[in-house]
Amino acid sequence: METHAIDPQAMMGDEGGARLLLEAHKVTKQFEGLTANRDIDFDIPRNAIVAIIGPNGAGKTTFFNQLTGIYAPTSGSISFDGVDITGMQPHEVAELGTARTYQNIRLFQNMTAIANVQVGRHVRMRGQWFHAIFGTPSIRREEEEVLQRARELLELVGLRRRTENELAKNLSYGDQRRLEVARALASDPKLLLLDEPTAGMNPGETRQMTDFIGRLRRELRLTILLIEHDMKVVMGVSERITVLDYGEKIAEGEPAEIRANPRVIEAYLGKQATA
Ligand SMILES: Nc1ncnc2c1ncn2[C@@H]1O[C@H](COP(=O)(O)OP(=O)(O)OP(=O)(O)O)[C@@H](O)[C@H]1O
Ligand SMILES: [Mg+2]
Repeated sequence: METHAIDPQAMMGDEGGARLLLEAHKVTKQFEGLTANRDIDFDIPRNAIVAIIGPNGAGKTTFFNQLTGIYAPTSGSISFDGVDITGMQPHEVAELGTARTYQNIRLFQNMTAIANVQVGRHVRMRGQWFHAIFGTPSIRREEEEVLQRARELLELVGLRRRTENELAKNLSYGDQRRLEVARALASDPKLLLLDEPTAGMNPGETRQMTDFIGRLRRELRLTILLIEHDMKVVMGVSERITVLDYGEKIAEGEPAEIRANPRVIEAYLGKQATA
């Protein structure tokens, strides 16, 4: 199902550029007078779990939106899997093998759980429009495969079979977040981007979600970038943490380094410590 161009770097094995799945170079995003991201250098090694943290308004979601093609950078460049994706449209970036969830849940609320996942699969479908219209055997077979895969994904994220015909809007908040992940996984991404996947969850649900993120990497060999607000959530699951503050990268390193970094403590943890 790989449809994108062959990446010459991928043939170089683990040496050289192929170690990195994503590379962002000096990415800047301006909204009128406001610089939401300034000169951000950032990369993601293959099969890593990395996190971006920072206070409200630090520029985390804006950065995500540039990685996924929702915003074109004002300046700077981004490459994914050896392809320059700077300025590409969201569906093009998705087709190369990225999928995301949103800070505010964006499900089709009046569709069933299973239908939400099936929709997520269609970015990967090869069926042509005329097959879809005339209902050829190949499209029917493809639809059957999509249904099976959607069921597997619902199980994987811990939504039991009985929820497959529930409308998304009737699922609990935690289950809606899980469903969003299932939908994102339906396109068989290489890189999964999660924007505050534990927002609004209680501590128990939060732990389950972070354990689940670790499992995803192991079982699906995914590379994962997550945005978080709460540093405690990412400590256990990410091997590298990047800290943004007022649109700038102020620190990057292993969780223990970040926790001890005075600039981070001042900019980020200090706000909680003194609260
Ligand atoms: N489309 C836009 N137009 C104008 N300003 C924007 C736009 N999107 C974001 N901003 C501004 O850019 C800054 C960074 O916002 P962003 O949403 O990226 O922060 P964040 O780190 O994700 O915050 P939060 O933790 O609250 O989700 C904020 O000042 C925000 O108001
Ligand atoms: Mg945000």
